[in-house]
Amino acid sequence: MAGVGATFCPLLFYGKAVQVRTIDWVDGKILIIDQTRLPAEEVVLFLSTVEELAEAISSLRVRGAPALGVAGALGVALAAKRAKEEGKDVGEAISEAASLLASTRPTAVNLKWGIERVKEAYDPGRPQTIDELIERARAMVAEDEEMNRLIGEVGADLLGEESRVLTHCNAGALACVAHGTALSVVEVGHRRGLIAGVTATETRPLLQGSRLTAWELKRMGVPCRLTIDSGAAGLIASGEIDVVVTGADRIAANGDVANKVGTYPLALAARANGVPFIVAAPLSTIDLETPNAEAIPIELRSDAEVLEINGARVAPEYTQAYNPAFDVTPAGLVSVIVTELGVVRPGVDDLQAFVGSSSQRTQKAGLLSEEKKTQTSL
Ligand code: MRU
Repeated sequence: MAGVGATFCPLLFYGKAVQVRTIDWVDGKILIIDQTRLPAEEVVLFLSTVEELAEAISSLRVRGAPALGVAGALGVALAAKRAKEEGKDVGEAISEAASLLASTRPTAVNLKWGIERVKEAYDPGRPQTIDELIERARAMVAEDEEMNRLIGEVGADLLGEESRVLTHCNAGALACVAHGTALSVVEVGHRRGLIAGVTATETRPLLQGSRLTAWELKRMGVPCRLTIDSGAAGLIASGEIDVVVTGADRIAANGDVANKVGTYPLALAARANGVPFIVAAPLSTIDLETPNAEAIPIELRSDAEVLEINGARVAPEYTQAYNPAFDVTPAGLVSVIVTELGVVRPGVDDLQAFVGSSSQRTQKAGLLSEEKKTQTSL
């Protein structure tokens, strides 16, 4: 990326000194770990314009629903700061940044949510407002870290001894500010001695499972093996998997879950074989304005991602491709959604009531123990 400061650095997660978060605000710039370079190289980028951030999101240098929420928030703050420094109209810059960033990845609702949370705080009548926008966005960085830590605590309570977990794509620290969602459950489960091992799907075509999840699990010291995506259903049927845990990019009001393409077949295989299918996601991924699967926009990505591997063509010339980034798992196939404030069973519990009561609770960590009392067993 032209003009983007890049630094090679040792990235240390999970119990060791954490040197960088997946995304952060550092010296007036947005720091991201460049996930397209992993696992070969550990590189952080410092993004100083909204255009650079939009490119980083589109090309999946930064990705994963919670991380995108924070990216949207920091992006709006960055646009406001730059406009003020350059003597431009701040309100206009914020609107332009919001439209540009929101267009990059339409399925992950957290992106829109993060953009709106900072955008709505802008008050043109108050000179100090830029600092407030930056503070709000930075608070969301810390909040994301805490939410995902809590998801791990809540989710690990659902694990049995010697759990053999299957996960898809990357719902780890790299998909959030830290900890992850599905991998936060694994992180806490591992700390409690409950994890026998994790099978990660490769996650074609961009290999988030091989490149990112396997990398994270290795750092966590969790035994990990990869399966080709098409091997996962047979593996579940063989009795070698106790629980499937994935993240989510958008959960509709009826509990339908959009997540990385290939999640739906895993949920089908899990149901057919009596294996619990857990979705781990922050409340910000639940979108009550989206009624059901039909209303979720599914991002279609380029044919080249399917037709080429590392730039080398693997299909005949003129072949077309179908490359949706996500699919939707119907609510009825989801055993339970794990959030930072407890669990909810789509199709059984009222998701709207759950979100409504959750948003009224401000002392989140303190309320977690209360939530655990009402937890469902699988
Ligand atoms: O296309 P990606 O890599 O952004 O897809 C990411 C996923 O599908 C994750 O499972 C989801 O965002 C949840 S991340 C905690």
